[in-house]
Amino acid sequence: MGERKLDKSLGIRTVGIREWTDNKVQYNRYEATPYKALNILFENYKFRDVDKVVDFGCGRGRVVFYLHNRFHLPVTGIEANYKTYEEALENKALYRLRAEHINAPLKFKYGLAQHYKIDKKDNCFYFFNPFSVHIFRKVVHNILRSVEKDRRTVDLILYYPIREYKDFLKTSTPFSIINKIRVPGGSDKKEKFIIYRLREEVFDEDDYWVS
Ligand SMILES: C[S@@+](CC[C@H](N)C(=O)[O-])C[C@H]1O[C@@H](n2cnc3c(N)ncnc32)[C@H](O)[C@@H]1O
Repeated sequence: MGERKLDKSLGIRTVGIREWTDNKVQYNRYEATPYKALNILFENYKFRDVDKVVDFGCGRGRVVFYLHNRFHLPVTGIEANYKTYEEALENKALYRLRAEHINAPLKFKYGLAQHYKIDKKDNCFYFFNPFSVHIFRKVVHNILRSVEKDRRTVDLILYYPIREYKDFLKTSTPFSIINKIRVPGGSDKKEKFIIYRLREEVFDEDDYWVS
């Protein structure tokens, strides 16, 4: 099924691209994760029923609706482009008509990812290359501060991971890679997911530190 048809089955519109018009070099354009990639990811990645997901730079909300619909999980999307955020809200209104039976909360917040206050129950964070590594560092720092305060296991899911993100996570954080999932048929080496995990037990280890 094509992207538009899959959108239609959820009652949403997420196809297309939106560039930033006002020279926001740290912020990347809108483009949704392909449904094909999401299907592959969730054939290989298992959620637990306690999971609460945040999509940093959620755009029109494709990942948010997909997860909510398929796994009935609480999901929050953060979006910095007001027009795109409004489109996510329009999608939510239409999606909710079809998904009344799913009780889990589904939220969109307008604002910068680096200003989002991590909830103590947030434990799975999705990034499709939304912004510069400079902002990514701040967001990961916020996640680490939150888990130090309220200890829990957390995962980061990176789609189309760029070298700067990977280098930062490897050299400056306690996250480790638990899985790499390639999207079949993709011609580009970056068409894959990398899942990073920080286990709760890590905090009990003597050499745990966060820069
Ligand atoms: C590549 S799109 C990913 C959309 C969605 N996560 C998905 O996978 O379908 C990146 C999105 O991040 C948003 N964005 C860029 N910088 C941001 C920031 N600092 N805070 C929140 N959102 C941001 C863009 O406007 C864009 O909608």
